[in-house]
Amino acid sequence: MALPQLGAWVLEELPKLNQAILRDVLAPRVLTDALHEVVLPDLPLPERLSAEEAQRLVVNLGFVGASVARHYQERTPGGKETPERAFEGLAAGTEQIPFQRYFAGLADRTGTGHDHRDSYASLVRWNVGTVEVRLGERTVAVLPGVFDDGRTRTYTGTTGEENFFALVKKGEAVERAVNDLLEPLATPETRWASPEAVSRVRTATVLVDALRDLFLEFAALPPEKSMPPEQFMDVFRQFAVHWKPGDIPPSGALDVEALKRDFLLGIAIPDYATHVRRLFPGLLSEEQAALESLMAQPTLPQRMAADLGVDLDRLPASGLTELRRLVGHHPVLADWYDLLTAHARAAGSHLMLSKKFLFKPQRQRDAAGLGDRPLVSNRSGTTGMTETYLERLTRARRQHVLAPLRPALDAEVREDAPLSAVRSDLLEIAPVEVRLVS
Ligand code: HEM
Repeated sequence: MALPQLGAWVLEELPKLNQAILRDVLAPRVLTDALHEVVLPDLPLPERLSAEEAQRLVVNLGFVGASVARHYQERTPGGKETPERAFEGLAAGTEQIPFQRYFAGLADRTGTGHDHRDSYASLVRWNVGTVEVRLGERTVAVLPGVFDDGRTRTYTGTTGEENFFALVKKGEAVERAVNDLLEPLATPETRWASPEAVSRVRTATVLVDALRDLFLEFAALPPEKSMPPEQFMDVFRQFAVHWKPGDIPPSGALDVEALKRDFLLGIAIPDYATHVRRLFPGLLSEEQAALESLMAQPTLPQRMAADLGVDLDRLPASGLTELRRLVGHHPVLADWYDLLTAHARAAGSHLMLSKKFLFKPQRQRDAAGLGDRPLVSNRSGTTGMTETYLERLTRARRQHVLAPLRPALDAEVREDAPLSAVRSDLLEIAPVEVRLVS
């Protein structure tokens, strides 16, 4: 099969085969036979492909690999312990390169440091079309994909999967816009009270609120417009299996823009950097480098406090009068408080999504004695995060370094001088629009 035909096969045929196999209408063998006989034999050597062709093939064969791996592990006793065996006998090209070695060659050919398996980047960012984030007339982020067919590849051809992938990519695009606004502030030249710096922080806050709105709107949609929780748990997540013991399956936890935001804004979780480094194999090289660089720097609130001469460690013990005086003296603290609070609220809404689509229904299954899925557990995320850990992350974001300012910043206080006076220059920030444009 030539590359365009393979692309069409992954869009049209693979989902049908997966559906039929999951319903026990066809044996998994039908899929591996098709791969063996029709799909893989004519594939070119990775070094013959351009980087873009290799990216597209990584996406397409990522869906193929995940399907083969899932069906094998689900049907073979002990299959979870020997994931590589799923690919035995599958080979690509006239040279008959074993599937996993061929996939590794493709991943290397992309020049991105992509993992030697499917990933968040291939399933979400490369797979879904271009997402654009606009603030009124202004485009503040564009996140392209690697296809120009306006389609989203899925495991089983359901709109639920398409909706989920689109939601995650939209979220990432909004987060990219936030980080693009904030990252330039990480320099010794930043004048924190300057109109430009304040505008960046307030615009970032509006965008983080828009991220939260995306989460809330998805949760409020009827299942046929989002994804039914059973489909998420029993169909979708079950494709996030290991290809090799210990590798990192795709997960929202690999959304690099969210990780960057945590390091820019700060998060009081001991060993958070260690936790994030554990996920590095699932991230692209430039994502790893960007995170390493942010991890080595002070957070933006720390830089700001140091430049303004504000002792963050003193805040928890400060009285209301002192806090009010401080904010009156440095009104920009209120803007940063708003941003950190919006960040925590967005985390809270994401936690709600994880509960609604995963943890709560699984608790109901447990209570009804229905147990868990044997392949990918629904008691934790695909990289192993539990509900308790997600709650801990959310709590840590809520307990941000400026949280002690809360009593000085509550709504009534803001109505009074001096805050309302110094903040009367509140910008009009245009409404946010997040669109899948192709
Ligand atoms: C219905 C929608 C969603 C559900 C059910 C959901 C569920 C989950 C679960 C179960 C985890 C733990 C993952 C693991 O162990 O690897 C997780 C983590 C994560 N997800 Fe989602 N997620 C959803 C949407 C999103 C979206 C749209 C984004 C990006 C904008 C996102 C970003 C993240 C991040 C960054 C983490 C790491 C944990 C954290 O930083 O709080 N998720 N999600």
